[in-house]
Amino acid sequence: MKEEELYQLLNKMTLDEKIAQLMQLATPFFKGSSTRGHITGPMKEMGVSESVIEHTGSVLGASGAREIKAIQHRHLEDNRLGIPLLMMSDIVHGFKTIFPVPLAIGCSWDLDLARQSAEVAAKEAAVSGIHVTFAPMVDLVRDPRWGRVMESTGEDPYLNGEFARAFVQGFQGEDLANDMYSVAACVKHFAAYGAVEGGRDYNTVDLSERHLREYYLPAYKSALEAGCEMVMTAFTTINGVPATGNRTLMNDVLRQEWGFEGVIISDWGAVKELIPHGVAQDLKEAALKAFRATVDIEMMTTAYIDHLKEWVDEGVVAEGEIDQAVMRILRLKNKLGLFENPYRGADEQLEETVVFSPSHRQMAKALAVKSCVLLKNDGVLPLDQEQHLALIGPFADNGDVLGPWSWQGSKMDAVTLRQGLASHISEERLSVAKGCGIQSVNEAEMMAALQAAQTADRIVLALGEASEMSGEAGSRTAIKLPKPQIELFKRLKALNKEIVVVLFNGRPLDLSDIVDEADAILEAWYPGSEAGSAVADLLMGQENPSGKLTMSFPQTVGQVPVYYNHFNTGRPLNAPDAQERYVSHYLDSPNDPLFPFGYGLSYSTFTYAQVTSTASTIKKGETLTLTVEVTNTSDRPGEEIVQLYIRDHVGEVVRPLKELKGFKRISLQPGESCQVQFDIKEEQLRYTHADLQWKSDPGAFTAYVGPNSEHVTAVPFQLMD
Ligand code: GLC
Repeated sequence: MKEEELYQLLNKMTLDEKIAQLMQLATPFFKGSSTRGHITGPMKEMGVSESVIEHTGSVLGASGAREIKAIQHRHLEDNRLGIPLLMMSDIVHGFKTIFPVPLAIGCSWDLDLARQSAEVAAKEAAVSGIHVTFAPMVDLVRDPRWGRVMESTGEDPYLNGEFARAFVQGFQGEDLANDMYSVAACVKHFAAYGAVEGGRDYNTVDLSERHLREYYLPAYKSALEAGCEMVMTAFTTINGVPATGNRTLMNDVLRQEWGFEGVIISDWGAVKELIPHGVAQDLKEAALKAFRATVDIEMMTTAYIDHLKEWVDEGVVAEGEIDQAVMRILRLKNKLGLFENPYRGADEQLEETVVFSPSHRQMAKALAVKSCVLLKNDGVLPLDQEQHLALIGPFADNGDVLGPWSWQGSKMDAVTLRQGLASHISEERLSVAKGCGIQSVNEAEMMAALQAAQTADRIVLALGEASEMSGEAGSRTAIKLPKPQIELFKRLKALNKEIVVVLFNGRPLDLSDIVDEADAILEAWYPGSEAGSAVADLLMGQENPSGKLTMSFPQTVGQVPVYYNHFNTGRPLNAPDAQERYVSHYLDSPNDPLFPFGYGLSYSTFTYAQVTSTASTIKKGETLTLTVEVTNTSDRPGEEIVQLYIRDHVGEVVRPLKELKGFKRISLQPGESCQVQFDIKEEQLRYTHADLQWKSDPGAFTAYVGPNSEHVTAVPFQLMD
């Protein structure tokens, strides 16, 4: 449809029909849905009329070509003007083929594979009838107590922005209207949901605007610069006002300052939650607050359909303002080609061949291999397939490796670690025993595990968190492994056998109970559908670990938040003149994390020669190039992620000790060297000043190059006026 045809359609709509377009309901409300009528609890209390349903703008959580075609078909029969529904769902890291959780994908530092994973997710979702995905989630995270850190790519604004771009490009492709394998993306949760106090979900967020802009906003902006079609509001507050009712954030920053003209959708129930937040006395006021924040679609509450018309009748809201919101929704439907083809990519036949295809699963495995992070290896890895292995632990043969946002993914289809290892080790050399539950003790299972370990040469101990211990509403105050698992570890350690710990979990854990005595630790996160085959290939040496952390592992939860791009403070612990006591430190813990941002081991070893620089000063418009020779000094081909950090020694505001400004994945054969180069320009030295201006200051800087954020070579340089 042309723009003027959309306006013609708009002008035919009644006010009620316009307001209904601003509503999003879950599938049980819709005729044609297999769950039609399964309206219980809060949904039942919504009291939504059939007429509203027939004119609702979008559906939450539908999937399946047949189901979606049936819903759309019935809707088009009832909708007076034949306006098609938008089908929106959460495809966060895969549809049916589940990729590693985003925090794991972040640790791959492989933007191209990340983009490809979103392409595959979009393809499987599109042939299943879905039009929009509620992803990427790009909330910056620094607190592993928060359950949703698994959904983010980590603690660095630059890296999160690079992944945001990659995911949006993967989901949306180049041509939403004609590419039937694409879906529109919806970046979330705007803004700074990851900064919840105490890591407790839905809790208060309160940051200075400068800090918000410097660290939390960049990744959302990157997603929008990549063309992301939608934005979802955060449940949380910014400057004391919930995002969903925050006109300054949603209109002034997002729409006016950034020029975002797309659709804003509330998170589930977030409009009505303005009441318990205490900024709206009732649903009518909540409707006005959200509408004034230019939220276009209200997800699963009825403030708009119950009260917007009253605001129009009272002359507080002009119908023309309603028209603007409706037009943004109609434009999105038009961009997706829904007026010409309301069924878009839905195709039962293609579903059969595309969804969960071998090639998709192969890609999920490849990304899982790159997402695992080898945290410790005292030489016990890779394993020798001639040896007798005892695979023990609650995750030894457990399909709960998809993570909490796997929706259409099936744990039954996931490859378990036992299945993965069985393809490397003959049955008689592989003993398997659970030893304990994820959070439960079982003495019989413990005895069986000890028995299996007795006769084995080595132990692979598969531990971790159940997926419901992570994800939304999955915050934990103690971020250790559950006690039964630590007990299992200690009982096995008493056998004096080498133990390789594999972790399946959704957050950086407090590993203080096992880190010293484990002979190796492989962080696998929730690796997805091909978990077992990817991890087994890594353990057996068929693959070489290359992942590097994008979120710090604390020594203990008492250190949280601990992140690499922190400030120096006025009393830094490691200052030359640091006093014994009166410095910024703990009496009972180091300041440094257990494992820092950017850290990860390989079976290969890499050396970094001296870093050379083309200049010691630069001005605007000039480029300084750093070169470092990296050599694979092992006998095994390997990949290394070389990282560039920069420090601004003196700013108008305090500046982090290091900020990631670039990285390069390199692949080296045994003995091979390569020259890795990084360009530094003035643009990379800019930051948010006290007056919120984004600019650089002349002065002293240091560039750092190395394999992680701690082990680096320093190269000082000056930015001249
Ligand atoms: C949830 C999540 C959001 C998700 C939405 C729809 O509450 O906060 O990320 O997209 O509801 O399922």
